[in-house]
Amino acid sequence: MTTRNPRRADFPLLAANPELYYLDSAATSQKPRVVLDAMRDYYERDNANPHRGAYALSARATDRYHEARERVAKFLGASDADCLIFTRGTTESLNLVATAWGHANIREGDEIVVTALEHHANFVPWQQVAIARGAKFVVCPLTSDHRVDLDALRTLVGPRTKVLAFNHVSNALGTVNPVDQIAALGRAVGALIVCDGAQGAPHLRVGFDTLDVDFYAFSGHKMCGPMGVGGLIGHRRILEAMPPYQFGGDMIEFVRDEESTWSAVPHKFEAGTPNVGDAVGLAAACDYLDSIGLDEVLEHERALVRLATERLRAIVRGTLSSDSSITLQSRRDFWDSLFALADAGTTLLVSSHYMDEAERCTRLAILDAGKIVADGTPRELMDRLPGRTVLVDTDDPRSAQRALTGFDGVIALAQIGTALRVLAADNPELEKRIGERLHSEGVEAKVAPIPPNLEDVFVAATLKQKEKGKDPKERAA
Ligand SMILES: Cc1ncc(COP(=O)(O)O)c(C=O)c1O
Repeated sequence: MTTRNPRRADFPLLAANPELYYLDSAATSQKPRVVLDAMRDYYERDNANPHRGAYALSARATDRYHEARERVAKFLGASDADCLIFTRGTTESLNLVATAWGHANIREGDEIVVTALEHHANFVPWQQVAIARGAKFVVCPLTSDHRVDLDALRTLVGPRTKVLAFNHVSNALGTVNPVDQIAALGRAVGALIVCDGAQGAPHLRVGFDTLDVDFYAFSGHKMCGPMGVGGLIGHRRILEAMPPYQFGGDMIEFVRDEESTWSAVPHKFEAGTPNVGDAVGLAAACDYLDSIGLDEVLEHERALVRLATERLRAIVRGTLSSDSSITLQSRRDFWDSLFALADAGTTLLVSSHYMDEAERCTRLAILDAGKIVADGTPRELMDRLPGRTVLVDTDDPRSAQRALTGFDGVIALAQIGTALRVLAADNPELEKRIGERLHSEGVEAKVAPIPPNLEDVFVAATLKQKEKGKDPKERAA
C-alpha cells in the first residue's frame, strides 16, 4: 500500500486533489468521470420527458431510461428488470415498502421484526407503520461481538411476524449479515423479507434472483453513481398486488372523475417525471464497477482496513487505557486533532465510549502530548489534577457534564463521521488558545461558548480538517 492507486485518475475530484484521502465512501462514494460523462451525454443529446412525447427525442429519452433500468437490474442480479423501481435511494425505497405494503397488510396484533443493527432508514419507517397499524415493533438484539443474535431472532420471529427487515451489510460496523439464515427464519412463518442493501450493493455481488428476500433496497450514490437515484427490487407477484405509494404523472393509466387506474409495474411506483439523467449515470456506474470487478473492489477495501488497523494500533497503543474501546473507522482525523491539542500542552481527558453513563465509567485516561500521564475514575482524577482544563472525547455530552462537574474549564469534543465537533467550551482564554492552535494545525475551528444545556450544542460548532498537504502515512509515523 505504498504506491498510489492508479484508479484515482478515474475520479476528477480525486485527481484534482492529490492530497485528499477520501475514506467516507460508506456515506457517499466519489464519482468516476465515466458517470459524469454519461450524464452529460444524456442531457446534451437525448434529454426530453420520457413516456409522454410523441416525438423522436422523447422516444430516445424513454429508451435511455429503459436501458438504464436493464443495466442496473443486471448488475444486481435481477432477471426481471421491470421489478426494479427507481427511487431517490435506499431511504425512499424502504419508505415505499413500509408505507405501501405495510399499510395494506399489517393489522393490529401483527409483529414487525427489525434488528438493533439497522440504519434509521430501515428502522423508523417500520416503527411508524407499527404505531399506525397497532402492531408490535420488535427489535432483535446483537451478540457481544455486534452480530445479529440469531438465537434471539429465532425466538422473536413467530406466527404473528408479518415483516422481517434487516440489512445486508451494516453501515456502522461493516458486519456482513447471513442473509440466507435470517431470511429462512422469516420464510418459515410467511413474513415479508426486506433487505436494506445500501452497503451491500456497492461491495458485494448481490444476485437478487438467488437471494431469498422479497425486497432489496439500494442507493446509487454509494456505488459510484449520482445522488438522487437508487432503487427497490421486488418480486413481481408482490409488486403487482401492492397499492401505489404516490400518485400522479407516470404511474397513471386512466383517470376518471370517480376513480383512476394504474400503469403496470414498475411505472405504478414511479409517480411524476422520472429521473432519467441520474438513472443513466447509475447504469454507467454499474459498467465502471464491473470493469474493475467487485472482487478487486473488495480486495482493495480489505487492504485499506488492514492498513488502517495497523496504523491505528500503532497510535492507540500507549495512548489509551486498556479497557477503552475504539472503533477503527474514520477516527484518524479525530485523533490527529486531539494530538495537536495535546502538543499544545493541554491536558486531555479521553473517555471514549465508556463515558456514556457516568456510573459505568470505570477508568479514564489523561493524555499529555499523546502519552498517558494518569488514569482513574473522574473523581480520582479531579482530586489529583485540580484546576486543570480537560478535553473530553465523548459521544454523550450529558454524561460528560455530569461526570466532570468540578473540573476547571471543560471542552467537550465529539467525532461525528470524520468531523470533529466542539460541543462546549466554558473558558474564553482557552477557547482562543485552542482556536489558534487548531488553526495553526490546519484545522478550521469554531468553538462555541458553553450553553446552559449541553444537549443543545451538538450543532454548536464544527471543526473541519483542512487538507494540510501532508501524507497521512507520514503523520502516522
Ligand atoms: C445501511 C444503510 N441503510 C440506509 C441508508 C440510507 O441511504 P440513503 O441516504 O442513500 O437513502 C444508509 C446510508 O448511509 C445506510 O448505510
